Amino acid sequence: MKLFLDTANLDELRKGAAWGIVDGVTTNPSLIAKEGVPMEQQIARICEIVDGEISAEVVSTKHAEMVEEAYKLSRIHKHVVVKVPMTRDGIQTCAKLSKEGIRFNVTLCFSPAQALLAAKAGAHFISPFVGRFDDIATEGMELIRQIVKIYQNYGFKTQVLAASLRSPLHVAQAALAGAHVGTLPFKVLDQMFNHPLTDKGLEQFLKDYAKAFDPAPAGR
Ligand code: E4P
Repeated sequence: MKLFLDTANLDELRKGAAWGIVDGVTTNPSLIAKEGVPMEQQIARICEIVDGEISAEVVSTKHAEMVEEAYKLSRIHKHVVVKVPMTRDGIQTCAKLSKEGIRFNVTLCFSPAQALLAAKAGAHFISPFVGRFDDIATEGMELIRQIVKIYQNYGFKTQVLAASLRSPLHVAQAALAGAHVGTLPFKVLDQMFNHPLTDKGLEQFLKDYAKAFDPAPAGR
């Protein structure tokens, strides 16, 4: 399973990249806006930090403008994957430009039927949002399981990118469901390291070693 960071914050991306386990990045207009730097400029900076696929989302809603934007974004760097919303215009743009070799991430997917349309349009990634379903008291992970199954049934090449993951448990469940990618906020990636038994075990190992081999305290 590939792990992507869902952030446009350069400090977070540098920290994640330094751990050597980040395979790519997803952004969206809200995340870019938070950093206060226009889309193309921030995406170019991100591409210098993370060596992997970087999703950059269009902000137009009409097909003709989406096409122009998709060309512009895809020219920033060879790793850019153009993100389009799961709308008629988004799917039309994906279907047209996928044939030219531009990779697309179809975002804001909330149903297996939508995921089927994205696969038929040749999307590189489909982004079903897990956490936003959980927010409305509906089990979001079921959507991942259904899409994985549908894609397997027909051998679609579109990769399932589990998005809106809010906890290490979400990441593990998405992996169990067979998602190809999980995208997560930096905080969740950081939380994935933690286990109290790891801390307890390490403390004991170091204590035992120090007892056996550390030089005697001065004055003895
Ligand atoms: C996906 O690409 C989105 O940027 C993201 O995962 C949305 O997460 P949220 O629902 O926590 O905002």
